[in-house]
Amino acid sequence: MLTMDGGEGDGIEGPFRRGDFIHRRTQPWTAGVHALLVALRTHGFANAPLSAGYDGMWEKVSFLPGLTGDLAECEAMRSETALRSAASLLRLYHDCTALFLPEMAARQEWQLSPRVPVEVICHGDFAPYNVVLNAGVVTGIIDFETAHPGPRGWDLAYALYRWAPLSTGIAAESLGGLDEQIRRARIFLDAYGFEAKRRPALPDMIIERLNALVGFMESEAARGVEKYGSDLRDGHDRIYRNDIGYISENRRAITAGLTE
Ligand SMILES: Nc1ncnc2c1ncn2[C@@H]1O[C@H](COP(=O)(O)OP(=O)(O)O)[C@@H](O)[C@H]1O
Ligand SMILES: [Mg+2]
Repeated sequence: MLTMDGGEGDGIEGPFRRGDFIHRRTQPWTAGVHALLVALRTHGFANAPLSAGYDGMWEKVSFLPGLTGDLAECEAMRSETALRSAASLLRLYHDCTALFLPEMAARQEWQLSPRVPVEVICHGDFAPYNVVLNAGVVTGIIDFETAHPGPRGWDLAYALYRWAPLSTGIAAESLGGLDEQIRRARIFLDAYGFEAKRRPALPDMIIERLNALVGFMESEAARGVEKYGSDLRDGHDRIYRNDIGYISENRRAITAGLTE
């Protein structure tokens, strides 16, 4: 959670804002994230935070003004305008990363494992809670902590899971049923411009992505990372496991809705 204008010091784990900057603890993957933010700017992508540097303790990026929040709490984030503009911005972001792919994909310090075929630098968590809205339009992408090289579909799969949302557990008023979720998923893919012939692979890719997420939580907990230990004790993996079942049961309807 963001602590507005919080103070630096021991005990602060999450990111906090101070003036025009967001500060967060430096991590083993911070160098990769900042290299990515710098390359995005250099190549003309202006919708991500600016790197303001990092040291052994803290990293700093620019604060992007706008509305933030997940689908459940932020009504404007549920609009079709938000959905379409999110997908268009993800496309722009992916296309920009393709311009500097070889040098970025050669880096080793990502939090999540790279995945082949490497087509872009995936954001890794392209969800409503990691963008900013202005006048109802998604204008910025934040939180590049889980960025890693991979295929476009891998990032899109998780984006669909969060934005449609193709889930029984992510409750949001008026976004309840499967039909509506599939309709929104299709709007997202159309706005992104994802080829029809690549769409049938997406349901299984969402399942794989959620399995990878549960596996990641378990291995982080096993090596003593307290955040993931407590997430698992609180049953945070349950929603993902349920949604894996939900997507596999409805695989046929989802595939048909995304392609026909
Ligand atoms: N660069 C930024 N510009 C604007 N708001 C930000 C920025 N970075 C973080 N925030 C705010 O802080 C919240 C948490 O930051 P985030 O980077 O998403 O970390 P985490 O998801 O790990 O808590 C975001 O949901 C957003 O409200
Ligand atoms: Mg976040």
